[in-house]
Amino acid sequence: MDLKKAKEILGEGFSEDAEFLDLVLNKLHLPTDSKILDIGTGSGHIAIILALRGYKVITGEPKGVNWADWKSFAKKVRVEKMITFKTFNAEKLPFVDTSFDAIFLHAVFHHIDDKKLALCEFLRVMKPKGILVIIELTDERVKLVRKNYSNHPAAVDPRNYTKELGLEVKVIESKYLNAYIYRGTDVLYGKN
Ligand SMILES: C[S@@+](CC[C@H](N)C(=O)[O-])C[C@H]1O[C@@H](n2cnc3c(N)ncnc32)[C@H](O)[C@@H]1O
Repeated sequence: MDLKKAKEILGEGFSEDAEFLDLVLNKLHLPTDSKILDIGTGSGHIAIILALRGYKVITGEPKGVNWADWKSFAKKVRVEKMITFKTFNAEKLPFVDTSFDAIFLHAVFHHIDDKKLALCEFLRVMKPKGILVIIELTDERVKLVRKNYSNHPAAVDPRNYTKELGLEVKVIESKYLNAYIYRGTDVLYGKN
């Protein structure tokens, strides 16, 4: 199923970020056999968009905090078999080192308590030449969200936490979302 059809079926909640997420994925050129981890399942939007593109995705969030029935959304667009859910916390990932080619967080980073610890975990489970994509709300988006959820956390620029890591970062900006794209380097792993 293409994204246009999925937007029609899943409606506004899914559609509002779908174009931006799709644009970011267009720029990554990930091979279809990439091992992909999506942190913070929520409604499953990013996992569903990845699955619609033919990627298998492992997704998860801490036990008992599921915010939405991602599976029913995935079923509506027939990609539920592409997505595997696992309970985990970003701060302590249940995966061995260098497991993933690509790690995604969509609207999740600002919710994580210990962001530095979580970043260490992302880098631990990412392959040396892997990619970490942190998609964060902009201040403008947070203002909108706070109309319904007044205590929603502020937007976070992950670069404030990654300065000293020596990672390359590329930023794709939009009105409501920014994507921070980190590419792993062998230097980081002491291989050069
Ligand atoms: C706005 S939702 C994410 C939306 C989702 N990524 C999507 O594409 O539809 C935020 C999610 O972050 C999850 N979350 C919060 N803290 C987390 C943590 N420490 N580790 C993993 N997930 C976390 C919450 O359970 C919640 O489902």
